[in-house]
Amino acid sequence: MDMNLYDRIPNNVNLSEDKKLQRALEKWLPNYLDWWREMGPEGFQEKDVWLRTAVDVGSDGWAHFDYVKMPDYRWGIFLEPPQPDAKVGFGDNYGRPAYQEVPGEFRNALRRIIVTQGDTEPASVEQQRQLGKTCPSLYDLRNLFQVNVEEGRHLWAMVYLLHGYFGRDGRDEADELLERRSGNPDKPRILEAFNQPCDDWLNFFAFTMFTDRDGKYQLSALAESGFEPLARTCQFMLTEEAHHMFVGDTGLGRVCRRTAQLMKQGDVRELGGIPLDIIQKYINFWFSYSLDLFGGEISSNSADFFAAGLKGRYKEREQYSEHSASNQNFTMTVVEDGQLKTREVPLRNALNEVLRGEYVKDCEKGLARWNKVLAGERASERLYLPNPRFHRHVGEFAGHAFDLEGNLISKEEFEKHKSEWLPTMEDREYVRSLMHPVFEPGKIANWIAPPAAGIKGKPFEFEYVRL
Ligand SMILES: [Fe+2]
Ligand SMILES: [Fe+2]
Repeated sequence: MDMNLYDRIPNNVNLSEDKKLQRALEKWLPNYLDWWREMGPEGFQEKDVWLRTAVDVGSDGWAHFDYVKMPDYRWGIFLEPPQPDAKVGFGDNYGRPAYQEVPGEFRNALRRIIVTQGDTEPASVEQQRQLGKTCPSLYDLRNLFQVNVEEGRHLWAMVYLLHGYFGRDGRDEADELLERRSGNPDKPRILEAFNQPCDDWLNFFAFTMFTDRDGKYQLSALAESGFEPLARTCQFMLTEEAHHMFVGDTGLGRVCRRTAQLMKQGDVRELGGIPLDIIQKYINFWFSYSLDLFGGEISSNSADFFAAGLKGRYKEREQYSEHSASNQNFTMTVVEDGQLKTREVPLRNALNEVLRGEYVKDCEKGLARWNKVLAGERASERLYLPNPRFHRHVGEFAGHAFDLEGNLISKEEFEKHKSEWLPTMEDREYVRSLMHPVFEPGKIANWIAPPAAGIKGKPFEFEYVRL
């Protein structure tokens, strides 16, 4: 595949050979840049940031690292190379040639999937736009901006699909992606987790740990898609996404380390750290909101999409030998007549829950890493994931109240304990009160430990952002 890095829009899809598409995207470009200047990281647009830029899709050497001002970042359209004889990998059309065009009967549904995924990308940039002003170190500041520019590129990835495969209404949807705003009551972002404020760094790390990780699983399911352009787009997005989760995972791990160190010295609050119970509440909050992103436990959409070969299971090709998922059942817990009961559901209707299960397993590994940090600092306390039924707003458990162990409780009981389980106004204010910027190379805020290593072989002390 040719890399056209010096085109106005860098790409490896031979954009210059499709003049109509190229013109449409070049028309969208200035609107995107206007959005970035208005809603991207506030206060740092003119600074040099040491960023990686995608320049290839090969497994090694795909990125180039250098100083760049964010508005000059080379957002591009990069797809993994096509597989010769690509086939639909699951569902009713298993084994047939992969779709190179959108299958007509699924056009609207597929457009909805792409728009919903696309909407999360600029939303997170908007949620995080104030964070730079309170960064705990230049290393963290750079990581924040790296995540932000790549979410911008992910928006480009989805907009390419909308423009390239959906004609007029795709172009309209692409325009609307720049018009909605996170948290704006009149034109909010589509999914609730992306309308929640992300205005302190504990929120940011929990968000990149839990909410970006939802992205990993959605993209992984779409990377299996029989609609080949979508599969190839998502495969490459996953390469970048890994770093976002790294930022969240290690960020929270470093907060845990620092908190455990302060616990040995005395009262964590008095020493200016973040107490473990507040960290736990942030975990409860972002984990539960991120679980909602997988959609209802029982879903006819998930069945239709799987049947059509459009959205597979996590590692469908690698992990499963049977790809029809028909005539099989899945046992799940539901609420019936005010009680928890188990129910058998056709597997295809349970695929949101199957994907959610993979996600939960992955999150548990993160918790195990943080608990290892706590143990290493000789703290006896441990962090945990709440039961997936806790604090849900979508699916079977929405509208019911559960405790952290997943027991069905009354709404009054929930309200009584809410301040122990979820961040309170005071918790948030306390965390915010710790957020003072540290802009000196090699220095770090008191509430977080430094990272084990810098980025791409550079030391922690490196001037990752020139201020
Ligand atoms: Fe993304
Ligand atoms: Fe991400």
